[in-house]
Amino acid sequence: MSVPYVVTISSEKGGVGKTTLATNLAIYLKAQHEDLPVTLLSFDNHFSVDQMFRINKQRSQGDVTGLFTGAEADDLVETGQYGVQFISSSSQLHVLRRELEDPSLLACSLANSQLGGILIIDTRPDLDIYTQNALFAADRVIVPVKDAPSLENCRHLYDFFDSHGLSRRALRILPCLVDARIHYDGPFRDTYQLLKAYAINRGYRCLEGYIAKSPKVESLNTNPEGRIYPILTHGRHTEVHVQMSHVARQVYLHTLETQPLRLDEARLQTNRDQERHQSAFEARIQELKQNCLVCDRPLVKADGIEPAGYFAQSSDHKITGFVEEDCFTSLIFRYFYGAKRTIEAHDPIQDLFRESAQRSYFLLQRAPNTRNFYQQKLSFYRFDDKGLEVSHKTIELQEFEKRLLNKERSDLFPLLERTLFDEQGRLGDSFLLFRKVSSDLPEEILYDQNYEHFSAIMAKITSQLP
Ligand SMILES: Nc1ncnc2c1ncn2[C@@H]1O[C@H](COP(=O)(O)OP(=O)(O)OP(=O)(O)O)[C@@H](O)[C@H]1O
Ligand SMILES: [Mg+2]
Repeated sequence: MSVPYVVTISSEKGGVGKTTLATNLAIYLKAQHEDLPVTLLSFDNHFSVDQMFRINKQRSQGDVTGLFTGAEADDLVETGQYGVQFISSSSQLHVLRRELEDPSLLACSLANSQLGGILIIDTRPDLDIYTQNALFAADRVIVPVKDAPSLENCRHLYDFFDSHGLSRRALRILPCLVDARIHYDGPFRDTYQLLKAYAINRGYRCLEGYIAKSPKVESLNTNPEGRIYPILTHGRHTEVHVQMSHVARQVYLHTLETQPLRLDEARLQTNRDQERHQSAFEARIQELKQNCLVCDRPLVKADGIEPAGYFAQSSDHKITGFVEEDCFTSLIFRYFYGAKRTIEAHDPIQDLFRESAQRSYFLLQRAPNTRNFYQQKLSFYRFDDKGLEVSHKTIELQEFEKRLLNKERSDLFPLLERTLFDEQGRLGDSFLLFRKVSSDLPEEILYDQNYEHFSAIMAKITSQLP
């Protein structure tokens, strides 16, 4: 497997020359190293990359959003002009943006690719989730700055690196759009010297050199053909041509000395995380009570877990297990919703309850301030999806109930004996929290992310209880 070395071009400031740098850097790198695979993609929605590199009018399958939705990076790549490969830009980034939270998705997706060589990523002037993903995957981040405000904004990039445990050494400032006509008195003679001094003063490292502001370069975007021309072919006589060559050489030299590559590290990290998730999950499975906490039917078997309705855990974590759907519903209806009749499995009221229960948490606990009462009282709470109380009801616990002429043991007792009762058969201080699970895969709730969510809700509920 050969992952690419990743260069991300990023700056929160708009119009500082990111796209011009990203697209031309790809061309210079390819021109300097014919055999080096160079791939380019952009999370901007201006389609400059597509305009500049697409050879055929026909679009390839997929675009950059595929990198977040399970497509293989290698399948998205199109061969473009000047020998540069590219992945189509997308006008739909805003749709996916709302759903994405994890900055490591792109790194995971690219870590499985065979792209090799160098991948250049152009970003939007915004530290949105796409930019975060591009930063997370990068061996080198080039930050174009053109003035003092754009340099101030760099702080957010450094903060992002710090907060994600990434090495700041990947970041390099590059003064861009430097107007050579401006001169100052004093030690910093021009904009380049001044920006460089500002950067060094803040502890930011710079690439060597800068990119000058050039009317010729600016004009390469605007012409009757509606094309974007490269500096290499159409701006050879500008100083920017020399400056771009120098930037490309520095990038190439860094590829030679970078070992391991960021994506190799990301892959190792992903593997380690997966192993950690798997062993945490297996440990939770080991802790499970084997049988339904109400009827005692075996649910946890060697080859998996039988369909179950609810996951239950006590707040002291001593009891973790499952309860069958019908056991839970009939118990709740009989004791807390005042059902006069037995609720059968096919009863429409079951379906209604099952539907709404998916957005609820249920809790059983000794009623508040009844620790030393002779007559035990049990409270039942219902909370919404966010862990906010919806309703509650308290009942007196009676072990034997009168049903017609016979005494019958309350169904609550076997459950409480297995969970909340102490050795004397008295309710302790902990509570039992229930959450509906998918009947196909009840153990899903024990996967790290779901389990963390359940635990967070349990903590929130704990803080609200009287
Ligand atoms: N070296 C240069 N000299 C003169 N003009 C330049 C130079 N580099 C870029 N430009 C021009 O500056 C404008 C902004 O450049 P570019 O689109 O590359 O910036 P950007 O940072 O990608 O912008 P955005 O943040 O909007 O994506 C463009 O009109 C471009 O042609
Ligand atoms: Mg741009």
